Amino acid sequence: MADKIKVFITEQEVNARIAELGAQISKDYEGKEVHLICILRGSVFFMCELAKRITIPVTMDFMSVSSYGNSMISSGIVRISKDLDEPLEGRHVIIVEDIIDSGKTLAHLIPILHTRKPLDIKLCTLLSKPARREVEIQVDYVGYEIPDAFVVGYGLDYAQKYRNLPYIGIVEE
Ligand code: IMP
Ligand code: MG
Repeated sequence: MADKIKVFITEQEVNARIAELGAQISKDYEGKEVHLICILRGSVFFMCELAKRITIPVTMDFMSVSSYGNSMISSGIVRISKDLDEPLEGRHVIIVEDIIDSGKTLAHLIPILHTRKPLDIKLCTLLSKPARREVEIQVDYVGYEIPDAFVVGYGLDYAQKYRNLPYIGIVEE
């Protein structure tokens, strides 16, 4: 049976917000270069749109970590299934995430990346669910803080579906 999806943040709204984040990052890192790390797969759409709105020099790399199976509940297990291709040493790193839920994925990942000696690591997420946080985590750039609902679209999936929706929607059960 098809899932019911309600539009939560329209394509126009989300793109406008990402443009604001891109402008903010360009300002904060003026005169520097940023290295964006995309956490696959959910962050791909956000990272592409964000990178286009950053006006300072940008490089990009991709990594894949798994913390969720095909369900709505966190397994709590975090594993690097595809590592970065390039070193981080001497770079201003920005981790680009689709959504921060419990915070477990990043709480695990950030210390690992720090051992690679970047100049600094900041965190940029399109969405954040503060009510669901289980571990404390510093988020530097947030597109939207949202309530505790399961969202899809703009890269976010439900059992691998709906990543291609151009807006952010809520799955209604
Ligand atoms: P955390 O470790 O609990 O913060 O998990 C973050 C990851 O869980 C995200 O990168 C998503 O892949 C997934 N996730 C959490 N909430 C949602 C949601 O509402 N929709 C789709 N994926 C989600
Ligand atoms: Mg993710």
